[in-house]
Amino acid sequence: KKNSLRTMIVFQFAILFTIISSGLGRVFVVDNTSQQDKADGSVGSPFKTIQDCVNALKTIGKPGDECQIRAGQYHENVKIDNLQGTPNQPFMIRGYGDERPKIDGTIPIFPAIDPETGDRYDWKTLSEDSKIYKTKINQDIWQLFVNNQMMTNARWPNAKWSDRSIFKGSLWAKLDNASKKGYMVNKGRSLAQTNINMTNAVAVLNIGSFNTFVAKVEDHQAGQNWFNYKDTFNNDKFKPSISKYFIEDKLELLDTPEEWFYNQETKTLYVWMPNGDSPRDHELRGKVQTYAMEITNTHNLVLKNLDFFATAISAISSRSENIDGVKFDSLIFNYPTYSKRMLGDISLIKLIRALGRSRRNYGSFVFFNNTFYGSDGATLDVNGFNVTYDNNLWEYNDWTGANMLTFNGGEGPINTYARNEVYYRNTFRYNDASTSIQPGLNPRIILNHVGGPYKMMAPVFI
Ligand SMILES: *[C@@H]1O[C@H](CO)[C@@H](O)[C@H](O)[C@H]1NC(C)=O
Ligand SMILES: *[C@@H]1O[C@H](CO)[C@@H](O)[C@H](O)[C@H]1NC(C)=O
Ligand SMILES: *[C@@H]1O[C@H](CO)[C@@H](O)[C@H](O)[C@H]1NC(C)=O
Ligand SMILES: *[C@@H]1O[C@H](CO)[C@@H](O)[C@H](O)[C@H]1NC(C)=O
Ligand SMILES: *[C@@H]1O[C@H](CO)[C@@H](O)[C@H](O)[C@H]1NC(C)=O
Repeated sequence: KKNSLRTMIVFQFAILFTIISSGLGRVFVVDNTSQQDKADGSVGSPFKTIQDCVNALKTIGKPGDECQIRAGQYHENVKIDNLQGTPNQPFMIRGYGDERPKIDGTIPIFPAIDPETGDRYDWKTLSEDSKIYKTKINQDIWQLFVNNQMMTNARWPNAKWSDRSIFKGSLWAKLDNASKKGYMVNKGRSLAQTNINMTNAVAVLNIGSFNTFVAKVEDHQAGQNWFNYKDTFNNDKFKPSISKYFIEDKLELLDTPEEWFYNQETKTLYVWMPNGDSPRDHELRGKVQTYAMEITNTHNLVLKNLDFFATAISAISSRSENIDGVKFDSLIFNYPTYSKRMLGDISLIKLIRALGRSRRNYGSFVFFNNTFYGSDGATLDVNGFNVTYDNNLWEYNDWTGANMLTFNGGEGPINTYARNEVYYRNTFRYNDASTSIQPGLNPRIILNHVGGPYKMMAPVFI
């Protein structure tokens, strides 16, 4: 009797829970192990891909319906276009129950197949006593992970991600007072002493106070203590004595564990593994994707309980098609953004995007309970009207501050032009751009925790 009563109570709770959690809408299920040819999205016949599920929402779904994704790894470029929920009955794309699927922007790295022999290339060390391994791979990558730990682009002066020394401005090279815009003279002899020809490497230049720019090194040769670069930054705050820089992305700079280099022309990957091990014994993954989800022309959509690894979300409006009412709920973004400097691409880093239009009074977004961790550059590009950031964590983002092409007032982890923003109970720590919160127009900023010991460019500002 007691047992059946308990069963009944549990059962009633279960019903209640289902009704609440599914908002009375229909639930379609995604499972990456699904073998079903003609899946209908039920628990017994789940879709294999998130895209199939999104298509179902669009074709047979009604506002309030949901895609629930089973735990597992998903490497997809999901297009979400023209999903029209209502404010009370948004569409929802979420983890199944409490499960958290991993949306992954990386692929496993294996040596490519040698077209001449039909066999896979092997990993080889550069010389007999070298710890640097190399192999040819199939697809260009611009970020490397070993056992899910981020490696550091080969650089000088050295600093790395794993001990967070990458955030220490004190480790960057300093400039001599003889430096001018476009002409960097290293302070002391350290650049000359590398005895490396830095031409065509990438220089990360914190030469504009709150501004860091990126440029190719020109006119350098081994033993020379200065270099040139094309100065296009309209930077009127250049003062050598408060400026600093580092150089990366050349094979000769690979000289310590956890550094890597990729030669796009020969498709050769070089890595010095964390313990000097062979890459054969570890899981290597490379970033090949900027956005895993691209959302256009959509109203009232909730994304919930999803883990993003080395990939991001883009929600953008065009002239005729709006994005409005999108909620980012309990998403974890690990390493969401990364520059393509390793591929010689020095354009701005592409961020997570939530872009409405503040001037047209639309683009309302809610960011609730998300984590943004390990992004290279800022995390979010936001524009819109009525944007709320509630209970989110920003941690260990942006070790370069290289978020601009020309001189501006500096940028924080959120690059926003939105109107009517509310920042409530967020934590910003160990992010190293010049400011922690740089809100859009007409913001309210309440009870946020702002701080962190790494001071690359400036004290903590709001
Ligand atoms: C499904 O996810 C698991 C991890 O849970 C992963 O090992 C597997 O490769 C994924 N399958 C596919 C087809 O992506
Ligand atoms: C370089 O310039 C700064 C600021 O103008 C000055 O304080 C410093 O003494 C100068 N250093 C040398 C070595 O001349
Ligand atoms: C320095 O490197 C550049 C680019 O690889 C090359 O064109 C140039 O000849 C090198 N300079 C010297 C002196 O070796
Ligand atoms: C916040 O997100 C975490 C995952 O990072 C989750 O475990 C937790 O339940 C969420 N909290 C709320 C109140 O939604
Ligand atoms: C913006 O928020 C205000 C206050 O909550 C509300 O009155 C208004 O309707 C909202 N406007 C839009 C376009 O969401």
